[in-house]
Amino acid sequence: MPQTKPPQPGPARPPTAAAFREALGQFPTGVTIVTAAGADRLVGMTVNSFASVSLDPPLVLWSVAKATASFAAFMAADAYAVHFLNAGQSDLAMRFAGRIDDKFAGLDHGPGVTGAPVLAGVEPLLECRVWARHDGGDHMILVGEVVSIRTREHKPLLFHAGVLRPVDEVDLG
Ligand SMILES: Cc1cc2nc3c(=O)[nH]c(=O)nc-3n(C[C@H](O)[C@H](O)[C@H](O)COP(=O)(O)O)c2cc1C
Repeated sequence: MPQTKPPQPGPARPPTAAAFREALGQFPTGVTIVTAAGADRLVGMTVNSFASVSLDPPLVLWSVAKATASFAAFMAADAYAVHFLNAGQSDLAMRFAGRIDDKFAGLDHGPGVTGAPVLAGVEPLLECRVWARHDGGDHMILVGEVVSIRTREHKPLLFHAGVLRPVDEVDLG
């Protein structure tokens, strides 16, 4: 019987920024756009730090970098909306990851049940009220209680090794 060799462990490395980024890149995630209503403008950003937390109560989290332009607005907001992106929405992901003045210009949107802006047709959608804010180094962790859900079957957009990939292009074999 042919013997298969176990994979060789990589060498242990100190967690330099480069090593840490490279390791995190090996963890594929979905891609979301998180939006909120700031005091004087709507904010939204592309986010892959989204995760589920609790079923009862229904809680989720994501992390916002303290250095982002919209950080203060997200911290002041008492609600946010999480839009899961599908395989055909990498342009939307790039738009909300860019530093442009009005990311919502030309997009169909309106206030959802919490007041946070909802992008029309960008679903699944979780509308959340902020449950807790925790310090997380150069990020803040925003835990939200889900108060409204819209779901639809979709082929997700993935983020892996620093690249946005439609799920069709991922070799799962
Ligand atoms: C795939 C992807 C995932 C991202 N995930 C996060 C994240 O979880 N948290 C975060 O603060 N920024 C994340 N970013 C970066 C923000 O989208 C980017 O800094 C954005 O410009 C912030 O918006 P602002 O400049 O309007 O504040 C991500 C970017 C990409 C492309």
